[in-house]
Amino acid sequence: MRFETKVIHVGEEPDFREGGAGDVVVPIHLSTTFARLRVDEPTAGYEYSRTSNPTRDALEARLAALENAEFALAFSSGMAAETILCLSVLRPGDHVVTFDDLYGGTRRLFDRVLRSSTGVEFSYVDARSHENVRAALRDNTKLIWLETPTNPIMKLCDIKAIAEIAKERGIVTAVDNTFMSPFFQKPLDHGADVVVHSTSKYLNGHSDSIGGAIMVSDEKLYRALKFSQNSVGAILSPFDSYLLLRGIKTLAVRMRAHEENARLIAEHLESHPKVERVFYPGLQSHQQHELAKRQTSGHGGMLSFEIRGGLREAKSFLEHLELFALAESLGGVESLIEHPALMTHASIPRAEREKVGVGDNLIRISAGIESAEDLIEDLDAAFGHVA
Ligand SMILES: Cc1ncc(COP(=O)(O)O)c(C=O)c1O
Repeated sequence: MRFETKVIHVGEEPDFREGGAGDVVVPIHLSTTFARLRVDEPTAGYEYSRTSNPTRDALEARLAALENAEFALAFSSGMAAETILCLSVLRPGDHVVTFDDLYGGTRRLFDRVLRSSTGVEFSYVDARSHENVRAALRDNTKLIWLETPTNPIMKLCDIKAIAEIAKERGIVTAVDNTFMSPFFQKPLDHGADVVVHSTSKYLNGHSDSIGGAIMVSDEKLYRALKFSQNSVGAILSPFDSYLLLRGIKTLAVRMRAHEENARLIAEHLESHPKVERVFYPGLQSHQQHELAKRQTSGHGGMLSFEIRGGLREAKSFLEHLELFALAESLGGVESLIEHPALMTHASIPRAEREKVGVGDNLIRISAGIESAEDLIEDLDAAFGHVA
C-alpha cells in the first residue's frame, strides 16, 4: 500500500464484526474501563484505557505503518515520548551521545531532569560528521539521539552511517523525525532503531492537539516501552487520538504544500538584501544539500535565516508581521515564525546556544500552506520596518 493510501486507511477499516456499525471513522472510545464476562480474561481484549484503548489502538496501527515499523505507541506529548524512551533504555551511569543542535526542550530534559535524577551522562557533538559521533562513544554508551534536520539550524546527519557505527556496539539509535515527518524521511529504513515524534506538529497538522509517538520494530524494545508507558501513564487521550487520526489523513497533501511554500520563501530570502544567511536543506547553498537529496524524498516546510543586524532588527521585523503568527511550535497549516534565542531555545544557556549557531539574529519559519505570494508580501512588508 502506498503512503497516500496508508494515511487514510490503516487503522480505520470499517468494523463489520457483530455489534460493529461499519463506521468509516473510528469512534472515540471514552470508556476508561471495559467490562468482562469472566474473571480471568478481558472478554473483548480491553481492560483499562491507560493500558490500551480502541481509538488509540487504531491510531497506533496507522503511526506504525507510516514509519514502516512493526509497533507504535502514542503519548500525551513529544516530551512524554522522549522521557519514556530514555527511562526504558537507560540505567544510572549510562551515557548518551547526541547532536549538539537539538530542540531546546529535549536538551532541558537531558540536562536538567535526566542527568540529575538518573545520573545518565550526555555528550553533545556536531553529528554532521559521523566520525564525531564515533569519537564520543564510550564503553557505557547506550543511546545515540539524533535530530535531522536539527531545530533550528537545519543541520543534517547521516542516519545510515551513524546507525552502522551504533549497531557494531549494540547501541540504540533514536531519531526525532518531527521536522521531516514520515512523508519525507523514514529513519528505520536507514537503520535507526527508534523513531520519535512530537505529533503536535506535522502529523496532526492543525495546531490543536499536543501529542507524541514512538515507532519501533524490535518487539523486546516495544514491550519495554509499553511497560514504562503504562506504568507512568503517559498516554494520548481518546479525543486527541481521534484528532490525530483525522489530521494524518491529509499528511501527504499538506507536506507537498508546506515544502513548496518553504522553497519559495527560502529562495526569496536568499536574494533579500536584509538577509545574511538562509538555512534550508532544499537550497543548493545548504552545506549538506547532497545528503538531503540522498536521505529524504523532499526538504520539508521548516527553514531559518539570519537577519542582517542583531536583536533589535530581529524584533522589529518579527513584530511587524501581519500574516505569520509570532508563535512557538511548527507544522500546522498556518505559517508561524519565531525567535529561537528568546523563545523555543531560551532554556539553553547563551554560550551553548551561540556555540551551535543560535544567535540573536536567527529567525525560524514554519511555512504554512497559505498562498506563497501572500506570505512573501508579508515578509517584505515587515523587512520594510527594519532600519
Ligand atoms: C523537534 C521537536 N521534538 C520534540 C518536541 C517536543 O514535543 P511536544 O511539544 O509535543 O512535547 C518539539 C516541540 O517543539 C520539537 O520541535
